[in-house]
Amino acid sequence: MLTVDEAFRKFKSRLELNDKEQANASARHNEVRDYLGTKFGIERSFLTGSYKRHTKTKPLKDIDIFFVLKESESHYRSKAPATVIDDFAKALVAKYGDKAVRKQSRSVNIDFGIVADAEDNTDYRVISIDAVPAFANGDDYEIPDTDTGKWIKTNPEIHAEKAVTAHQAYSNEWKGLVRMVKYWNNNSKHGEKPVKPSFLLEVMALQCLHGGWQGRFDYEMQGFFATLADRIFDEWPDPAGLGPAISNGMDAARKQRAQTLLRAASREATLAIDHGRRGRNGEALKAWRELFGPKFPLS
Ligand SMILES: Nc1ncnc2c1ncn2[C@@H]1O[C@H](COP(=O)(O)OP(=O)(O)OP(=O)(O)O)[C@@H](O)[C@H]1O
Ligand SMILES: [Mg+2]
Repeated sequence: MLTVDEAFRKFKSRLELNDKEQANASARHNEVRDYLGTKFGIERSFLTGSYKRHTKTKPLKDIDIFFVLKESESHYRSKAPATVIDDFAKALVAKYGDKAVRKQSRSVNIDFGIVADAEDNTDYRVISIDAVPAFANGDDYEIPDTDTGKWIKTNPEIHAEKAVTAHQAYSNEWKGLVRMVKYWNNNSKHGEKPVKPSFLLEVMALQCLHGGWQGRFDYEMQGFFATLADRIFDEWPDPAGLGPAISNGMDAARKQRAQTLLRAASREATLAIDHGRRGRNGEALKAWRELFGPKFPLS
């Protein structure tokens, strides 16, 4: 029978990005770029966000692509953020249809109509991408934010460097733990995601995973859930010091709900560890699977 440690290693590898998925993401990137290039002056575009940092969880969806607009499009920059979002959405509806295209506060989501199966598998295909209009500003970018009605600054390279530093300081286990907690956050049993945006979990992990890797996934996850619960009411600024606080995405009621669910997860983890300690390996595996969802293996 699978040990708990083996199960966590398998879980970790199931949440890793593989070659087929990267090929599909790249094909979708090219497809959307080639099309948007016929509608807008696009300087360059690139895959970014958690996908690029390897902190995205499965199933793969909402992969961020920045479309850096040319100087000829700078009229958008002096207009309300909703204008460029509206125009991106209109253009994308013409290709992908009404049902596939959804406006979000900083991007336009394109759904490719791929449905994950009961095991959260998509046959290595990307479910959706987030097309983000952007303007270069020195080393930073400015992107629209219809929530605040302002253009906000961001710098994906700084976020990527912070993630790499944290990962290395944690014996190269940090990104795997972030993907696991984001997988828990996506588990449909919660209904709505406990923590929103899920980027907040990664930002919190920069501080909540500290003291170095202790060698056991089960203890790491138990402690991680407990610390996240304790600190969910803190203010969490943009780690690059440019955009609005990442913790602005939740009001007090949402944070309270997140804390309750994170505490429950930490307790469930304690119970799962206890099963293992008493030699009830099968019960331990079931408890972890119940906590995380179908990608946690039972065998
Ligand atoms: N408030 C913010 N200020 C500045 N940059 C931000 C802010 N929020 C997000 N970003 C940047 O935009 C990227 C995309 O945002 P998004 O909410 O999709 O997060 P993500 O890290 O890609 O997580 P997910 O796995 O949920 O897609 C982030 O990875 C980060 O680099
Ligand atoms: Mg994203």
